[in-house]
Order: sequence, then C-alpha cells, then structure tokens
Amino acid sequence: MKDLKGKTAFISGGAEGIGFHTARVLGQEGMKVMLADIDAKMLDQAVKTLKKEGLIVDGTVMDVSLRDGWEAAARKTFETFGNVHFLMGNAGVAVTGAQKHIEELDWRWIIDVNLMGIVYGCQVFAPHMKAHGQGAHIMNVASMAGLQGVSYSGPYCATKAAVVSLSEGWRTEFEKDGIEVSVLCPGFVKSRVYDSMRNRQERYGGPLYHDDLVKEKPARKMNKDIVVNGIDTDIAARRVLEALLANEFYVITHPHFRASQQERARKIDQAFESAQASPALKDVPREGFVLK
Ligand SMILES: NC(=O)c1ccc[n+]([C@@H]2O[C@H](COP(=O)([O-])OP(=O)(O)OC[C@H]3O[C@@H](n4cnc5c(N)ncnc54)[C@H](O)[C@@H]3O)[C@@H](O)[C@H]2O)c1
Repeated sequence: MKDLKGKTAFISGGAEGIGFHTARVLGQEGMKVMLADIDAKMLDQAVKTLKKEGLIVDGTVMDVSLRDGWEAAARKTFETFGNVHFLMGNAGVAVTGAQKHIEELDWRWIIDVNLMGIVYGCQVFAPHMKAHGQGAHIMNVASMAGLQGVSYSGPYCATKAAVVSLSEGWRTEFEKDGIEVSVLCPGFVKSRVYDSMRNRQERYGGPLYHDDLVKEKPARKMNKDIVVNGIDTDIAARRVLEALLANEFYVITHPHFRASQQERARKIDQAFESAQASPALKDVPREGFVLK
C-alpha cells in the first residue's frame, strides 16, 4: 500500500507493545487508527496518549478469540472512520514450559488467541476490503518462533508457524481481491509479552502474573530477560511501516537470525537428498504437481 494518508488501520492488541507503537507510526503517516484490545485500562491510556499527540485514533475493547467481538469492533470502526485498509492481526500471547507441563486449557487459550484471532479478523475484514476495492493490506503477526521450532515453546511456536503458513496461502488467494498479505516475524522486542498471562480470560484459567510464576519456577525469569533485552518497540513499528509501503511478505526485524534460517533450509534440502537416494522411493516420479 503506497498512499497511507487518510486511510484507516485496525490494530488488534493495540493497547501496548508492538501494536501501540505501530499505531503511533501509522498515525504520524496520516492514517486513522482503531486500537482494539482486551485490556480496557491500557487501551484507554493508549488512546488518550495518541490523541494528545494529535493523532486520529479511537479504541474498542474486544477479545480476539471471539468472533462476535470482531464483528462488533469492525462495525464500530466503519462507523467511526469509514472503510478499513490495513488490518494488523497483532494480539498474541505466549505459553512456555516443558511439554509435559502444558495443560489442554493452555493449548486452547493460545490457539484461540494466536490462531483463531487471526482467522476471525480475516473473515470479518477481507470481504469488506474486497468490496470497497480501494486496495488493502492484512499483516499477520507471527514470530521468528513461527519460522523455527524452539524447545520449551511448543504452543507458541505451533501457533506462530500456523500464522506463517496461512499467510503464505492467503498472499496468493487474496491477490485477485486487491488485498496484500504479509507476515511479521519479529525476534525479541521489548514488551510485556513475557507476562501475557496477565490478560488470560477466566474461561482459560484467569490471569496469572509473571512475578508469581517466577517465585514458583525461577527458570521462567529467563523469558523476561530475553524479551526486555530485545529491540525497542518503535524500531519494530518503523519496520512494519517500511514493509507495508514496500509490500514485503516475510517481514523480518532481526537480521542476525539469518544463519539459523539458512541452517534450517539446509537441513530440509538434505532431507530431499535422502529422499532422492531412498530405495523405498525409487519408483516415485521425480516430476509432478507441486502445491502453491
Ligand atoms: N515481544 C516480542 O519479543 C515478540 C516477538 C515475536 C512476536 N511477538 C508477537 O508480537 C505481538 C504483539 O506482542 P507484544 O510483544 O507487543 O506483547 P504485549 O503483551 O506488549 O502486547 C500484546 C497486546 O495484545 C493484547 N491482548 C492479549 N490478549 C488479547 C485478546 N485475547 N484480545 C485482544 N487483545 C489481546 C494485550 O492486552 C496487549 O496489549 C504478539 O502476537 C506476539 O506474539 C512478540
């Protein structure tokens, strides 16, 4: 999307962190921004802060894991700002720990927020974007952990890999509708993502705070240390702007992860070498239909 001035952005998880800073950067480019978040107090503060800076913003309280919430938030946005041109599916949470300690409810929570929150957003906004025909962009927020599995982070990686994967499909699928699609894959960014259980809904077990978890399991402290030593959120936000303007697909914020991605690609290529040499596969054709 080239010309942002006067257009509207909708950012889920916009009350703080990467979403909030992206709202500020896009607002400074002349976009109208609807911030959507489950945390009413932080949202109110975020809207007030950006309004004081002279930006055109508003807020809507919503839970991205509920489809009805998306519909109500979309209605409010259309009434307030008109057509929506940029959807940033940014709200996300983290569940970490050894595989044996992850309960089914933890899985349900992270899948409903990180994956279904992206799915519902697209279901609600893509038809509208296609219908207004003014050009649009959907940026789904995944993670470097969506491009690479990480130990003790199974649920987080699984949901973020799902977001990368569906974004790859949507990129092609939505082209004909005039909707660009991209996927943001940050490394560590200074935010409160390490404390994301602060916003866990009652139906998934209610809030849980990082400091309490650390008392029980000191190893959990590492999660905070890594994140708070990450890059500043406003740097990530400026990267989002660059990628939006240039219509980049995989949006990377940490160049130093390149080597580990190359290593992963090398291992997959090596696996194809083994398949090529496999006696079990000797009669399998070497040419055929490839999915895109
Ligand atoms: N910070 C990092 O190091 C990092 C790295 C890679 C990816 N990410 C991803 O970036 C995105 C933004 O995270 P952040 O780092 O800014 O963290 P953050 O915790 O500061 O911000 C997340 C925001 O999402 C909101 N939220 C949580 N659950 C919600 C729900 N059910 N409905 C609506 N809003 C909800 C929170 O209230 C918060 O405002 C997430 O998807 C996260 O997984 C972050």
